[in-house]
Amino acid sequence: MFNPFMLVPCLICLYDVLSMIIPLRIPAWAKLLLSLLIVSGIAKMLLLRMTPAGFDVYELPRNLALILSAMFSFMIAAAIMLIVKDILFIVCKIFMRSNFPAHYASLTVLIIAALTTVYGVYQGTKVPDVVTHEVKIKGLGKNFDGLKIAMLVDIHVGSVNRRDFVQEVVKKTNALNPDLILIPGDFVDGQVISKRNDLEPLTQLRSKFGVLAVTGNHEYYYDLNGWLKTLSGFGIRFLENEHVTISSGDSQLVIAGVPDPTGGNHNTPKALENSPVNVPVILMDHQPRFASENSKLGIALQISGHTHGGQFPVISQLVQRFNRGFVRGWYDVDGMKLYVSPGTSQWDGFPMRVADPSEITLFVLRSAK
Ligand SMILES: [Fe+2]
Repeated sequence: MFNPFMLVPCLICLYDVLSMIIPLRIPAWAKLLLSLLIVSGIAKMLLLRMTPAGFDVYELPRNLALILSAMFSFMIAAAIMLIVKDILFIVCKIFMRSNFPAHYASLTVLIIAALTTVYGVYQGTKVPDVVTHEVKIKGLGKNFDGLKIAMLVDIHVGSVNRRDFVQEVVKKTNALNPDLILIPGDFVDGQVISKRNDLEPLTQLRSKFGVLAVTGNHEYYYDLNGWLKTLSGFGIRFLENEHVTISSGDSQLVIAGVPDPTGGNHNTPKALENSPVNVPVILMDHQPRFASENSKLGIALQISGHTHGGQFPVISQLVQRFNRGFVRGWYDVDGMKLYVSPGTSQWDGFPMRVADPSEITLFVLRSAK
């Protein structure tokens, strides 16, 4: 069945062909070939939306999936650049009444978009670097001064991110010698039977206080219960509107977690019920958009992902608008600290990152008055 959601990428594809390929002064067969390459950019999306049950696009061979996803990324990058080109065209033709070098302008966009895609897909698929932040927490007990918390989010195992990627992320995370590991959602796209092995290196994560997690929206697109059972079997504890209190001597710290609202069961007040008084709270909430509501509950720090930092100029601004102004980095939300990670990776349909590197985040907590 055709999904109306597919109209947008189809229109973008058409725009690319009309604005970038048609004006080129090249033979017709070359235009046809380039057009087909651009159309291949929506092939994976069409397979995802239109194929019957039983076929899973996330089980495509990795290299084929990567090429198709790279072509989709190229299609999007080119469209953004073509908008700039066409604005210049209108300015030249209508306001300045001068000639516009349509062939050279389209060729320039084609080359820059292709180079940007190669660079962006490399950035999007490489194992991320570690980014460290010292975080001052009011009321933090002296025994937790210097506590190291590693954060992984938006790992998005699928057709592109496979076992090797997860293994390297685990290796880098363990090398930080974290006291606690938090994973606020979006582990995987795909079925348990085909993706379990790719995520299995998560069993090797090591930290003094364990690995805690919440669901992201993508956990609900496949077998939620199957994944919760599998990942719990890997030693990951999911917090579903609940909290745990970790202790060291007389110092305490509350770690709370809420499931993604996609499941209709997102309830931060419930997660904090019966939590000890005057003990700082760190909240895992996959999406940052509830930060304002959460800030009224006395939470010291909220950590989120979901936005992937926007991944590409212009798209970042759109993502920010759809997430109540939150896209990447630190925010002060009515006195509550909010950190929005750009993600350990991103959804593999669009694996391109420009000016928005992925990361493994390390928080080092510090006591503050
Ligand atoms: Fe995500």
